[in-house]
Amino acid sequence: MVRETRLDLANLIFPLFVVDGTGKKEPIGALPGIFRFSEDYVVKEVEECMNLGLRSFVLFPAVEDSLKDKTATYSYSEKNFYLRIISRLKKEFPESCLMSDVAMDPYSSDGHDGLVENGRILNDETLGILGKMAVAQAEAGIDIIGPSDMMDGRVQHIREELDDEDFENVAIMSYCAKYASAYYGPFREALASAPKSGDKKTYQMDPANKWEAVREGELDVAEGADFLMVKPALLYLDVIHLLKEKFELPIAAYNVSGEYAMLKAAAANGWLNYDQAMPEMLLSFKRAGATSILTYAAKEYAQMLKEGRLA
Ligand code: PBG
Repeated sequence: MVRETRLDLANLIFPLFVVDGTGKKEPIGALPGIFRFSEDYVVKEVEECMNLGLRSFVLFPAVEDSLKDKTATYSYSEKNFYLRIISRLKKEFPESCLMSDVAMDPYSSDGHDGLVENGRILNDETLGILGKMAVAQAEAGIDIIGPSDMMDGRVQHIREELDDEDFENVAIMSYCAKYASAYYGPFREALASAPKSGDKKTYQMDPANKWEAVREGELDVAEGADFLMVKPALLYLDVIHLLKEKFELPIAAYNVSGEYAMLKAAAANGWLNYDQAMPEMLLSFKRAGATSILTYAAKEYAQMLKEGRLA
């Protein structure tokens, strides 16, 4: 009766890694229980989740090295399997909510989210590529565009491009306060997308900065974002709380790969009780102020709920 915070399955967004081809369900070493799925298997996975009452998904492509280049042309190519999978899922599950990833790194031979020239990231020159990527995803049927690249000005650019192509109803969940974090390691393993040289510190945020997140929020609100995301989530609960206080937009929290991996590793060693520790972690994001939570634990949470294993 006096409980202040409740986590609802509708708050959760489940990340799915996809690969080209058929018959593939490849485990990812540092993400136990998470796989790279080919089209046939991702359809089955989404169906299972939908049957559990989990309806929201964010999709990430694992692209073959031979298809990567400096300008990420495959990201908006008609042959792109990622776009094909989006269309297929939207057709088979019209009531699902599908979110994309917009950034160059899965398609970039440099492994960076933006264009690289002489070791530098070209912010403004990257925007055109991100815009094309977003429009291609909207054409495929995506519901929410997720720019994870952290280039300045990209929310406005993507919004304008979408509106020009009559995709006014496609929303943008901006990766607003995305920190240059060590906790993305397992994700980069999953996509083989680690930077070939340098790091992401010129476009992702300094983990020491909190007020800079407010500045990023102001820009994203002005540029037309529909959600503001904080990433990682567990290590940045203060930032989630701060943005919730400052802005009226829904706040999303990305419980990243390294945060999930820590919990799984401790549980595998018998050092933590996963079934207790995981729901407590998810609840903390909600308590801090997030309404949308991107988490690798989403399906497990849905299963626990269905089986009556949640207190
Ligand atoms: C890259 C991207 C990353 C994640 C989502 N999109 C990694 C990075 O910035 O290098 C990380 C997600 C996770 O760790 O779960 N555009």
